[in-house]
Amino acid sequence: MQQLAAELKIDFQSETYKDAYSRINAIVIEGEQEAYENYIKLAQLLPENHDELIRLSKMESRHKKGFEACGRNLNVVPDLKFAQEFFAPLHDNFKKAADEGKVVTCLLIQSLIIECFAIAAYNIYIPVADDFARKITEGVVKDEYSHLNFGEVWLKEHFETSKAELEQANRQNLPIVWKMLNQVADDAQILAMEKDALVEDFMIQYGEALSNIGFTTRDIMRLSAYGLTAA
Ligand SMILES: [Fe+2]
Ligand SMILES: [Fe+2]
Repeated sequence: MQQLAAELKIDFQSETYKDAYSRINAIVIEGEQEAYENYIKLAQLLPENHDELIRLSKMESRHKKGFEACGRNLNVVPDLKFAQEFFAPLHDNFKKAADEGKVVTCLLIQSLIIECFAIAAYNIYIPVADDFARKITEGVVKDEYSHLNFGEVWLKEHFETSKAELEQANRQNLPIVWKMLNQVADDAQILAMEKDALVEDFMIQYGEALSNIGFTTRDIMRLSAYGLTAA
């Protein structure tokens, strides 16, 4: 793994790399900020899991600080305005669901979609990252698997009552993920992250999560491809 970045002779200080990094780094920072806020909101919606969810929110806040350090290390100023616009559709859908007390939709957006998106992006980034960012990202991705697990366990325990809302939330939010992946593809390519690899890793994580929750293989094929062809 470690040799890939060297083999590809990535110049982390080139203007092209740093320009793309200013957006990718901002997306990661904003993603961690969204996750931090979403787990605080979920802690309010799920009083019985309050302390656990606050613990997760604090982990997200630490992740954000780690990725801010990655940007500073390369002398890159993250384009946070771009990143906020990038996350706006998921942000708005989470907020609307939270306002309506739709905890299942909130869990699908944060603990399944955003966590799987993060895991896929970090898995693909690690082999091509600079040494500093690789160490940070390796620590972060382990945490994200545990956050994904929180959502899976809760939704598995409430599967029968959550199923219809999960289907609807998936239909509403998964097409947004494909758009986000397309929007980021050119910048990701400059960082040596292949779009096809990102899509594949996301599909694997998301499909496994749906399976762990209780969906059948047939359901998973239908659910996880939703909106893919339109992207
Ligand atoms: Fe995180
Ligand atoms: Fe997370």
